[in-house]
Amino acid sequence: MTGMPAFIATPSPPDLAGVLGELPPEPFSEHFQLCVELVERYAGDWALALAAELALAPALADALSANELAARRGFVPGFVPALQGLLRRLAADGVLAVAGQDGTGAPRYRAVGPWPSEHRAELRAQGLATDPGIAPSLELLDLAGGLYPPLARGEVRGEQVLLGAGHVGLWGEYFSNRHPVYAINNVIAAVAALTRAPAGRFAVLELGAGAGSATEELLARLEQAGRLGDLTRYEVTEPSTFFRRRAERALRSRFPGVPLSFSALDIDLPLDATATAAGEFDLVFAVNVLHVARDLPAALARLRERLAPGGWLVGGECIRLFPGQPIAAEMVFLALEGFVGVELDPERRPEPGFLTPEVWRRLFTGAGLAPVELVPDLERIRDLYPFFNSGAICGRRPL
Ligand SMILES: C[S@@+](CC[C@H](N)C(=O)[O-])C[C@H]1O[C@@H](n2cnc3c(N)ncnc32)[C@H](O)[C@@H]1O
Repeated sequence: MTGMPAFIATPSPPDLAGVLGELPPEPFSEHFQLCVELVERYAGDWALALAAELALAPALADALSANELAARRGFVPGFVPALQGLLRRLAADGVLAVAGQDGTGAPRYRAVGPWPSEHRAELRAQGLATDPGIAPSLELLDLAGGLYPPLARGEVRGEQVLLGAGHVGLWGEYFSNRHPVYAINNVIAAVAALTRAPAGRFAVLELGAGAGSATEELLARLEQAGRLGDLTRYEVTEPSTFFRRRAERALRSRFPGVPLSFSALDIDLPLDATATAAGEFDLVFAVNVLHVARDLPAALARLRERLAPGGWLVGGECIRLFPGQPIAAEMVFLALEGFVGVELDPERRPEPGFLTPEVWRRLFTGAGLAPVELVPDLERIRDLYPFFNSGAICGRRPL
C-alpha cells in the first residue's frame, strides 16, 4: 500500500459490551468495527473524489445550499438529494462548514479547505485484506459513485442504473448474512424479535423480506432456541416477485416443516387491499423496510392494526445517531427517486431515509405503540461510539 498509512478504527469503548443489553457481544468485535469504519471512510473518500470531478470547491467559496449549488453548477433538480448527501459528508469530515440557511431552511455550506486527497485504492485494498466479506459494500459504493456525474447532468435515472438487471447479483450479495456490514441489522432485529416473542404458540408477519436474509436469521435463532415448533404461521411478504421467489426457494429448503407462507404485501397500501387480516399476528417483523414507506406514520398505524393485543412490531433499521450524521449506504440510496420521494414532516419525518432514535420513538409512540424500546440502547451508546448505526425499534400494541 502506498500514499497513506493504514486506516485505524476509532478505539472501541471498553464498556461497549456492558451497554448492549439483550444483544450478544461477539458480533461487535474490533474487527467488525474496523470493517464498518473502513466502509464509512471509503464513502467519505468517494465524496472527496466526486467533489473534485463535479468541480464543487470553486463554487463553495460562497456559502450555498444543495439547491443553490445545483443551480450554480447547472445540475438537474433530481440530483439535489444526492448532492445534499455529499455536502453533509464533506461537512462531517471538516472540509465544509455549515454557514447559515437558505430561504427554505436548508443548510448552506462553505469550503474551509484545504481539500485532502482521497485514497480509495488504498482503503479498498486494506478493506478487502481485512475482510473480503465487505466487498459488496465497496462495490455498491463504486456503482453509485460512478453514477453521480451522469445523474447530475440528467443523463440517467438512479433506478435505471442501480436497479438494472445487471446488478441483481450485487444486491443479493449486499442484503446477505454473509456480508457482515449488512448482516448486523438482521442479528440485532432477530435477537430483539426473539426476546419479545410470546411464550407458547405465535404467528409472525414479515414485511419487505427481500430474498430472505432477515427471515433466515430469525428462523435460525428460533431454531437455536428450540422454538421453531411454536410457530403457528410465518407469513413472509415481499412485493418483488423475483426476490420473493428466491426467498421461498431458499427458506423452504433450509427450514422444511416450518409453516411458511409467501405473499406480496405493500406497506403503502391500506389493510383491506392486502391478504392479511387485522389483529392476526403476535410479531410484525421488518428489517430495513419501514423507512421506505411513503407515508410512514400511516404505514405504522396500519401495522399496529395487524398486531394482536400485546403483540410487538420490531423494525430493524439503519439508524442515524445524530441529526446530519452521514451513513455510507445513503450514497447509494439517495440516488433513488423512490427512496427520497416520501412524505416529510418536521417532527415525525424530517428527512427521507435513515432516521434518529428520537424520531423513531416519536413515530412508534404516535402510532399507538407502548412501550417503545430501542435495541440496543443507542441513545447511550452513541456517546461512547459514534458508528453504531444499527438498531431495532420495538413497539407493543397495548393489551
Ligand atoms: C433493504 S431491502 C430489505 C432486505 C430484507 N429485509 C432482507 O432481509 O434481506 C428493502 C425491501 O423492501 C421492499 N419494499 C420496497 N417497497 C416496499 C413496500 N412499499 N412495501 C413492502 N416492501 C417494500 C423491497 O422490495 C426490498 O426487498
